[in-house]
Amino acid sequence: MDKGWRFALGHATDPSKDFDPAPPGTVFSYFAKAGTAQGAARDRFDDSKWRSLDLPHDWAVELPFDSLGSNSHGSKAIGKNFPENSVGWYRKTFDVPAADRGRRIALDFDGVFRDSQVWVNGFYLGRATSGYTSFGYDVSDYLNYGGRNTVAVRVDASLEEGWFYEGAGIYRHVWLTKTAPVHVARSGTFVTTSVGGRGSSVDVRTTVQNDADAPARFEIGQTITDPEGRPVATWASKTISIGPGGRVETPSTLRLGHVRLWSVETPTLYRLVTTVRQDKREVDRYETPFGVRTIRWDASKGFILNGKRVQLKGVCDHQDHAGVGVAVPDALEEWRLKQLKKMGVNALRTSHNAPNPALLDACDRLGILVMDENRETGINPQQLESLGRMITRDRNHPSVVIWSIGNEEWSIEGNDKGARVTSTMQAYAKSLDPTRPTTVAISGGWGAGSSTTIDVMGFNYFTHGNTDDYHAKFPNRPSVGTEDGATLSTRGVYVSEPPKGWLSAYDVNGPDWASTAHRSVNHYAVRPFVAGQFQWTGFDYRGEPTPFGWPNIASQFGILDLCGFPKDNFYYYRAWWSDAPSLHLFPHWNWPGKEGQPIDVWVHGNVAEVELTLNGTSLGRKPMPRFGHLEWKVPYSPGVLLAKGYSDGKEVLSDRVETTGEAEGLRLGSDQASIKGDGEDLAVVAVSAADAGGRAVSTAGAQVTFEISGPGRIIGVGNGNPSSHEPDQAVGGVWRRVLFNGLAQVIVQSTGGPGEIVLTAKSGGLKPATLRIKAAPTPRRPFVP
Ligand code: GAL
Repeated sequence: MDKGWRFALGHATDPSKDFDPAPPGTVFSYFAKAGTAQGAARDRFDDSKWRSLDLPHDWAVELPFDSLGSNSHGSKAIGKNFPENSVGWYRKTFDVPAADRGRRIALDFDGVFRDSQVWVNGFYLGRATSGYTSFGYDVSDYLNYGGRNTVAVRVDASLEEGWFYEGAGIYRHVWLTKTAPVHVARSGTFVTTSVGGRGSSVDVRTTVQNDADAPARFEIGQTITDPEGRPVATWASKTISIGPGGRVETPSTLRLGHVRLWSVETPTLYRLVTTVRQDKREVDRYETPFGVRTIRWDASKGFILNGKRVQLKGVCDHQDHAGVGVAVPDALEEWRLKQLKKMGVNALRTSHNAPNPALLDACDRLGILVMDENRETGINPQQLESLGRMITRDRNHPSVVIWSIGNEEWSIEGNDKGARVTSTMQAYAKSLDPTRPTTVAISGGWGAGSSTTIDVMGFNYFTHGNTDDYHAKFPNRPSVGTEDGATLSTRGVYVSEPPKGWLSAYDVNGPDWASTAHRSVNHYAVRPFVAGQFQWTGFDYRGEPTPFGWPNIASQFGILDLCGFPKDNFYYYRAWWSDAPSLHLFPHWNWPGKEGQPIDVWVHGNVAEVELTLNGTSLGRKPMPRFGHLEWKVPYSPGVLLAKGYSDGKEVLSDRVETTGEAEGLRLGSDQASIKGDGEDLAVVAVSAADAGGRAVSTAGAQVTFEISGPGRIIGVGNGNPSSHEPDQAVGGVWRRVLFNGLAQVIVQSTGGPGEIVLTAKSGGLKPATLRIKAAPTPRRPFVP
């Protein structure tokens, strides 16, 4: 249901500007009578002048920056000071064939930020306040079979849920799910596995729901297929009776002989295919990807996967990317994870909310361990329901290894209320999933409150207490560094310029609770009783422009910038978190006017020794400290600065920076030369500038405009400048962006169909660049009736 929506802004405080549900002369409003909702909720409302768009969509990212906007949320002109920008309406018409009569049809939303109300054909379906919880409504009784149907969604983003950029709108997928009346319930399978000496057993609890008003009889079939799609185990139930409107849970056990375990290195996925049969006919089919693996959180050894200790080398991230805001398409979620993997990341904390389901699918495929985090801490029915929905939705993902029930609840984490709330939420989580522990990210009062009742202690910043004292006091409680680092740096900046909101990319800056990458990695590297750490953050995100305020609008805690361009600390982590040999020399070597003055030169890498030369003259050879880096002070003179890395006495790697001339032409590059022509896949394109000798000019700052032709469209542009007020979206139809320290990004998405997408970048005075991306033909996904 992602394609072909209409969109318009309504109004948060003035009903006359919000497609008034009760204009003069009408009697009924939204809710008065079934199927008679008024205003834009009405089926026969004229939305022909509204804008057309596809999902996912974030209207906040399209808005200008404003000093009256919430700075923690990125200072967009939305929120309580902007009622005219804070309510969005979405409408879509869709056909339902006459043959669907008798099916159960649900409208499912993966996430809407926030406070959404939904109507179908003028019938009110309900309200979902949380912007992070997936929800759905049964619409079967309200549909026009063999006819046209209308869905209307009112989204009110006036209020905030977090303290970071949260976007606005239907920013995740919407689905129309059609089933037989007797069908597997939503999130209706729960797969758990155990591994023994001779193979493994797969236990499945399947909930079947009968939405008909008559009793029914059915059989369940289970088939497990291996990664190649071959069936490797089957199971069949006896006939089961179910009452009208009833739900029945059926346990089954299947055995796998030779099993390939899911791990970080080999994320093997099996698939459980559940069928429901009535009168010998298959009426429903439900597929559950899963993995077979064992996990254990150990108080002295940390995290154990398949019997082996795995150091969690993790990052925390928000759902937010350059150009698109929170409307991150699936392919971009996957691209982001792949950038993290390049620096050795093996774990992700979905701070501070239930993630996009597509993110977890990608973590399953890529072998990334997930701390799946809940948004609101508390035990009211709505809060527990949100936690419960996250757990039942996500509990079959092998990547998910722990639930986080909250983050830094300052007023309760260190006292009895915190202990009690934690216990209640934890018990509830266990009732839904006894196979994973829970944690909470705790920033103070270690030894009291939540930290006395939680399964796995979550240290939020080791500087906030004493991890060793805690371990001595609670020797039987496992622990993990839920959040650490919070180093601040701007990509490509080597001299801080606070008035511009830029901080140098050497590993030296951070607020008082933070520590450098160096300090935080070293802290956890020598404490194997802690399972590892999650750094704040993988990517920059909008909002929280610590330590600055307006006009700064984006955070710079990221190890990569908002576009996913690596900052220099990326190479620190790659050196010590990944096994790949690596060497990285910085800063750039364009310092006109600084001739003879000392420049700080750093090298990150995991070689044994590094020798630095400037224009062929050695500046010394130094041993690389473990979990450290090397530094030189080099009097500037233009030319070539070269670092040679040695291991076992042999030169194994080198890296160089070189003084360049002025930018002479633009460059476009992408590691995705070919994408699927499926209307969803995308290529992330880097824009840069080179001098006449073909050398990348990392100080270039030209304004670049973009044009596209073929079966593709631009969905956003960015450059990673945390202070930029340039638009991420095309204004007046023109896509443009300034290069920030030599780089900008364009995200190109398939519009559907095969062909050649041609992207052109132009800038006055520079040679233009063209990139051709092949959109490959893709078979239509099979429709499973
Ligand atoms: C933590 C918090 C994060 C972020 C971070 C910045 O206290 O959990 O959400 O605000 O500080 O360092």
